[in-house]
Amino acid sequence: MFSEFEKSAITQEPIHHIIAQRWSPRAYDPTQKVTIQQIAALLEAARWAPSCYGNEPWRYVVCDKNTNSTAWNNAFQCLAEANQVWCQNAPVLLLAVTSNLFKHNGAANRWAQYDCGAASENLCLQAVTLGLIAHQMGGFNPDKAKEIFHIPEEFTCMTMIAVGYQAKSNTLTGDYLEREQEPRTRVPLTEIGFMGDWGIGIGNK
Ligand SMILES: Cc1cc2nc3c(=O)[nH]c(=O)nc-3n(C[C@H](O)[C@H](O)[C@H](O)COP(=O)(O)O)c2cc1C
Repeated sequence: MFSEFEKSAITQEPIHHIIAQRWSPRAYDPTQKVTIQQIAALLEAARWAPSCYGNEPWRYVVCDKNTNSTAWNNAFQCLAEANQVWCQNAPVLLLAVTSNLFKHNGAANRWAQYDCGAASENLCLQAVTLGLIAHQMGGFNPDKAKEIFHIPEEFTCMTMIAVGYQAKSNTLTGDYLEREQEPRTRVPLTEIGFMGDWGIGIGNK
């Protein structure tokens, strides 16, 4: 059910309200700034994610329209057009990047992207606690971002994350408005949780 600002998950089992409340809105309020303290709190939440070997492979490039419009424009230029349409009002764009090599021995880290995803989800959940919205995007040009932001060779650009305050859904139009208001869905628990062997869905006999 869509209410103007909330689209809490309708869960099969009770879960923490912060997890249920997080979603990926596209209507951003262009007038409300995100403070540097809020940005630091988001990064702090990312920082405390678990990682393979405690390697902490994640990095974030902060592009705040209000304090560094050049960086924000650079990030915006990297976005796919379909994301630019709604991201134009997001005051902060974060570029999430991960190191592909373990710090301790320089070997390939096949869990780096997994760890960066965990850190980014921490960040998105922290955004909910701060009354902000965060929306991760794969729709951007990672090679362009790597070049523009002078990212070293051994890193991979993973996502852009739009951060800001939520605006009313009717600030969007067409498809974007529809998607903002449509119910959130997930495949059933039985299709993702298997009891002891592949395909034995939890709750199924
Ligand atoms: C890695 C990743 C890439 C995504 N890329 C985009 C994107 O380019 N554009 C977009 O509008 N949403 C993007 N999303 C948001 C997803 O569409 C969204 O998380 C999903 O539909 C579930 O909705 P919810 O986050 O509201 O629960 C992305 C999410 C993730 C985690």
